[in-house]
Amino acid sequence: MKNKIGVFDSGIGGLTVLKEIYKHYPNEDYIYIGDNKNLPYGEKTKEQLLMYASKIFDYFIKEKVNIVVIACNTMCSNVFSELTNKYKNVNIIGVIDATVDSFIKENKSNVLVIGTTATIKSNIYEKKIKSINSNINVYSLPTPKLVPLIENMEDVKDTIDEYLKPYDNIDSIILGCTHYKLIDKYINKNIKLINSSDGVVSKLKEYINTDSKKGSIKIYTTGALNEFNILCNKIMNMNAEFIEL
Ligand code: DGL
Repeated sequence: MKNKIGVFDSGIGGLTVLKEIYKHYPNEDYIYIGDNKNLPYGEKTKEQLLMYASKIFDYFIKEKVNIVVIACNTMCSNVFSELTNKYKNVNIIGVIDATVDSFIKENKSNVLVIGTTATIKSNIYEKKIKSINSNINVYSLPTPKLVPLIENMEDVKDTIDEYLKPYDNIDSIILGCTHYKLIDKYINKNIKLINSSDGVVSKLKEYINTDSKKGSIKIYTTGALNEFNILCNKIMNMNAEFIEL
């Protein structure tokens, strides 16, 4: 049977995850929501995050989605268990465990995690990585300037250089925000970069039935449509529609 997969983020960041999973599993039906009205999620409280996510989950459930991919590190690091407790009748895949799994496979020992303020404050990556291997050195850095720059299509190079300057002893960087895959070319190429998409592809695999026919994608934003569509076209080669939630 074909799956109906709901994917969401605060904006265009989660499209990096959607693009990758659609590439691997083109026969499923997808609905994407970029919650631009409430961006940036990284500066919001747990209560606000749960309220935004609940509106999106309620919509997905009304649309008969059977798998939700939370393509947002901020949501997953702050309200993942609240959401899995509240929405028991839908399969939920988060990016954090998927990303940690990808990182562990790389066998690196000095990793820098960059992410939004809320993700880094939760310390979730360090806790999860250390519980698997306490010998790995995990450095964490909030990089809140990046999401607004990416969404506004502004230059990120100097900001990245400044953020990363103090870290000359690392062998890998976890891109702990789905937006960051869009700017990975500005990060030092000699370092292994781990993004949120690859792990999600592996986690979804068990749900996929290879017999189904070509699927569909619908993309929505809760924010300004014209701005969203510039990047949506670049990333997905298609237009989004506006949705009020
Ligand atoms: N892309 C999101 C993440 O993975 C959230 C960015 C934001 O809205 O602050 O954390």
